[in-house]
Amino acid sequence: MIVAPSFLTADLHRLEAEIASVRSAEWLHFDVMDGRFVPASTYDHHLVATVRAFSDRYFDCHLMTVDPEASFSDYAAAGASSVTFHLEASADPAAGIFALHALGLRAGLAVKPATPIERLSPYLSHLDLVLVMSVEPGKGGQAFLPEALDRIAWLSDFRAERGLTYLIQVDGGINGVTAPLVRRAGADVVVAGSFIFRRTDRDAAIAELPELAKANPGASPYIRSVSKLR
Ligand code: DX5
Ligand code: ZN
Repeated sequence: MIVAPSFLTADLHRLEAEIASVRSAEWLHFDVMDGRFVPASTYDHHLVATVRAFSDRYFDCHLMTVDPEASFSDYAAAGASSVTFHLEASADPAAGIFALHALGLRAGLAVKPATPIERLSPYLSHLDLVLVMSVEPGKGGQAFLPEALDRIAWLSDFRAERGLTYLIQVDGGINGVTAPLVRRAGADVVVAGSFIFRRTDRDAAIAELPELAKANPGASPYIRSVSKLR
């Protein structure tokens, strides 16, 4: 299981130190908010370029922006590895996926909790990554929404039945209790913000999640959801 630290709650004035504090993470998750698709606004491709100057890790850029396609080439130039945009924000997701691949980027599509998961079906065979939001996008530190488990399982079944290869990523409220559940449901990548950045030893927090996922599937208050899963 890949753990991608989200920098939303990190101290951006001490960026290099904050990135050094998650040394063991292969992926870095950038939460780009424009104050329109979500009320909050964070940073954009400029921050990605700043970090690319001193890091060669995998840059997982999560765009919570309106008209995401307009900035794809900026993220390519900034050194992003993949760009994930929201299905709800795009007039033509298929064209967006094609544009990302043409820029040499991996393509991801994200869905909000209320968006029917089946709406992703037409795009799944072209995607590298699917992001299931397990909180309403827009801020860190929120509680995990258990209905995300069945949505992950649906994507995992769809992938297996059709021999597809997209990664399933989950974002929001991931911690030592929810990580085992999303892993059991079929998730490959978990984003974690507050669970990692509230800790002094962040690498220990990053190592904990896959360990717990291996050792402890299904042992949590969401057990009723698990019983419906495989
Ligand atoms: C929320 C962001 C998440 C958030 C996760 O809109 O997309 O990446 O930072 O933070 P936690 O892990 O604290 O829920
Ligand atoms: Zn995110």
